[in-house]
Amino acid sequence: MTFEIKKNITWVGKVDWELRTFHGNEYSTHRGSSYNSYLIRDEKVALIDTVWAPFAKEFVANLESLIDLKKIDYVIANHAEIDHSGALPELMSRIPDVPIYCTANGVKSLKGHYHKEWNFRAVKTGDKLSLGSKELVFVEATMLHWPDSMMCYLTGDNILFSNDAFGQHYASSGMFNDAVDQDELFAECMKYYANILTPFSPLVIKKINEVLSFKLPLDMICTSHGVVWRNNPAQIVEKYMSWADAYQENQVTIVYDTMWSGTRVMAESIAAGLKEARPDLTIKLYNASMTDKNDIVTEVFRSKAIGIGSPTINQGVLSSIASFLDEIRGLKFRNKKAFAFGAYGWSGESVRAIQEGAKAAGFELIGDGIRALWNPDDQAVAACIEFGKKMAGSI
Ligand code: FEO
Repeated sequence: MTFEIKKNITWVGKVDWELRTFHGNEYSTHRGSSYNSYLIRDEKVALIDTVWAPFAKEFVANLESLIDLKKIDYVIANHAEIDHSGALPELMSRIPDVPIYCTANGVKSLKGHYHKEWNFRAVKTGDKLSLGSKELVFVEATMLHWPDSMMCYLTGDNILFSNDAFGQHYASSGMFNDAVDQDELFAECMKYYANILTPFSPLVIKKINEVLSFKLPLDMICTSHGVVWRNNPAQIVEKYMSWADAYQENQVTIVYDTMWSGTRVMAESIAAGLKEARPDLTIKLYNASMTDKNDIVTEVFRSKAIGIGSPTINQGVLSSIASFLDEIRGLKFRNKKAFAFGAYGWSGESVRAIQEGAKAAGFELIGDGIRALWNPDDQAVAACIEFGKKMAGSI
């Protein structure tokens, strides 16, 4: 399958409808994904990125149905991660002398992955490559999200090939942003930002401001995953600016795990207190052991505050909560609050462990936390409702 993006610019990637996990098992892809590659035919022919290795043969055959591979003058590797570079060995075995344009870090990464001495040409921000009537202008995007990440801009057609940025794991037959379900699209965009780009938010703002300062006209953004932004591409840039700026909605998310339902009852009672005191808040509850972790992270991303609950086990917390605390520590959320709760039988260290974990993750602790001995009785339930009301006052 190929797809005409614009005259002489063809999508030659792979829509992966089956994909359900990405980055090993680190990222759930409920709606599949796509690996986008683009062929630009001017006086010179350039190929931007490839696809994930399992689809390498299919990719090259598909490309060959469109063009004699020997007519490809340049390969652009915007990003060395395997989902975009995985078909390079197959492709380069057919056209071994064609230069590969990437950043200096890209050369290191590609050599590290494939151990090949291909004809690398390292580029940096502002370097240009003439295709005849148009030029590709390279823009390094270091740590967005790998050291080698890069974008390139095609003059004349005013297209930004943004690689991972502005993308989403979303398989569709629509291909363009105005040809797919908008709720699904933006849900996947937000999940992608929350789970992958949150730690790099300060760099996102800096990079977008840098690119905007070039004052380049922008007709399309061609990402490396999901849709091509052809209708008002600025809308996703604006979303990124908002998401990068310590984003939050009027939401509280309560993430808990429970052994014999005591901590679940606490979670529900705290939620009742929160809602009674602050009807304006959206409150969501998730059992961490039963819910996709990336979906929970997305809800945390949307929240002003989170509650974290676990019963005590072995003087600590249940493993799903330990894992959640570790996850949010790495994501470096900013400007969010957290409170802790948990049921216990004898020693009751879980609340303190949660508070330490939330603090280490950069959350501002509110309240002293609340514990309930054994299964919460009416009095303990009432205390949790009151605790929820008190927390509402701090959110
Ligand atoms: Fe889509 Fe960073 O790879």
